[in-house]
Amino acid sequence: MKNYNIALIPGDGIGNEVINEGVKVLKAIEKMDDNLSFSFKSFPWGCEYYLETGEMMDEDGIDKLKGFDAIYLGAVGYPGVPDHVSLRDLLIKIRREFDLYVNLRPITLLNEGLTPFKDKRKEDIDFLVIRENSEGEYSGAGEWLYKGEPEEVVLQTGVFSRKGTERIIRYAYEEAHKQGKTLTSVSKGNALNYSMVFWDEVFEEVGKEYPDVKTYSYLVDAASLYFVSDPGRFEIVVTSNLFGDILTDIGAGITGGLGLATGANINPEKNYPSMFEPVHGSAPDIAGQDIANPLAAIWSVSQMMDYFEEKEWGEIILKAIVTILNDKDVLTSDLGGKASTSEVGDHFIKLLEKYE
Ligand code: NAI
Ligand code: MG
Repeated sequence: MKNYNIALIPGDGIGNEVINEGVKVLKAIEKMDDNLSFSFKSFPWGCEYYLETGEMMDEDGIDKLKGFDAIYLGAVGYPGVPDHVSLRDLLIKIRREFDLYVNLRPITLLNEGLTPFKDKRKEDIDFLVIRENSEGEYSGAGEWLYKGEPEEVVLQTGVFSRKGTERIIRYAYEEAHKQGKTLTSVSKGNALNYSMVFWDEVFEEVGKEYPDVKTYSYLVDAASLYFVSDPGRFEIVVTSNLFGDILTDIGAGITGGLGLATGANINPEKNYPSMFEPVHGSAPDIAGQDIANPLAAIWSVSQMMDYFEEKEWGEIILKAIVTILNDKDVLTSDLGGKASTSEVGDHFIKLLEKYE
């Protein structure tokens, strides 16, 4: 019997609502699979916690999380706490401290009715974005000079270390090699004359170790166009932290929206717990109404199962998502249905039980 220890950080707004449904799915799996069990511990960190204590997480929060097998996070950020505080002091802190340098974001059309394109089929939109997740434009390096003066200057430095750039690019080549897929690097060497010229060089260098992998290299502006006009050309994409953040929201836009987009934050060496979360935020506009779509958070559970090497469950969850998407009656309003968050979760579990 394998037991996995999972730290829950539901966070703010709809984070709580969607994580509840994901936990229901995990508990259902535990019931159906005699060889698997999960233990949960929930941490109350987030913006409410910040307003009470002045901290987004406990001072020794990182130590508290260290021993877990995985972290399952909802969303952080809420009106009343500046977004750069909430995001940096919880989510980005965990990504950084646990060296979760790989962010895996599948862009897969699970149901043809969900794309804004009239003529796109499932096989036209099915790729994986591998986003650098530990440095780049989100490293927090910079300077704010002469604040409030007419000479005011701010610098936001993109940090691209040899180690950080090489390891994400190598990870992407490894995936492309293993899966027999093409690899596309997205950068911006024509305008960012240090960081992205370096990125392109490393992409070429590491590529020499993988002669079997067919590669493409696009500027991020052109890549944004292709995400919309010709997504079929992508199989595996590797890109920097900022570009990956933006591109994957475009990816969500062409595959059913934020209610369906998932992201795994991985430390491939398994020195630290990896973290699984829906891509969306806390959605204050719909929080507390029981209408948030829990399927992105449930897809995160599928990614967690893959990471635990319980791949059969990973696949079963994904299949059940494909099935539930065929039935508008049991979907939330962002996907054209009328169901509540918990109704989607309850129906989902009935589907899972059928696959058992
Ligand atoms: P958001 O992702 O929370 O919402 C954008 C839009 O998508 C809203 O109209 C929302 O109602 C809708 N939406 C998002 N998730 C949905 C779901 N599961 N079901 C149905 N509709 C959904 O992004 P926004 O509004 O820019 O940010 C709100 C807060 O969340 C901010 O404080 C921001 O910093 C934070 N945020 C946190 C993230 C994280 O924790 N990973 C990621 C993005 C934003
Ligand atoms: Mg984002």
